[in-house]
Amino acid sequence: MYAVESLGSGQLVGHVIFHPWHGVSTWEVGWILRKDSWGRGLASELSLALFDHGFGRLGVDRIVAEADPSNTASIRVMERVGMVRAPELDRDLPVWQIERRS
Ligand SMILES: CC(C)(COP(=O)(O)OP(=O)(O)OC[C@H]1O[C@@H](n2cnc3c(N)ncnc32)[C@H](O)[C@@H]1OP(=O)(O)O)[C@@H](O)C(=O)NCCC(=O)NCCS
Repeated sequence: MYAVESLGSGQLVGHVIFHPWHGVSTWEVGWILRKDSWGRGLASELSLALFDHGFGRLGVDRIVAEADPSNTASIRVMERVGMVRAPELDRDLPVWQIERRS
């Protein structure tokens, strides 16, 4: 779990989780931001940074995220950063994924 700090103000604005998901080569990302920080592109920026970290330094093969179908904001973040629906991975919630490009 990573704390998310605003570069401008130094304020804590939320956290992200990034952890192995049902296997060592697939990791899950998830975000929770303070409401007054929504809509500024923070979740998209965080996701792209974690993709670099996961695919680059950690050697992860696939990164997934789960979202309730009503969570438009979360789904828009996933689409915006290049994740695609992966129905074959669905468990309790629909799953999106992005794979490492070789
Ligand atoms: C989901 C969440 C992390 C999005 O964070 P964010 O920093 O506001 O997202 P971004 O600013 O990167 O926006 C990404 C897209 O979502 C859209 N969006 C943001 N808030 C939205 C809202 N409340 N309703 C609809 N769309 C929304 C943005 O317009 C943008 O879409 P665009 O590419 O079409 O412009 C944030 O809303 C949140 O913390 N929600 C509560 C926790 C949660 O549901 N987490 C996800 C489950 S792990």
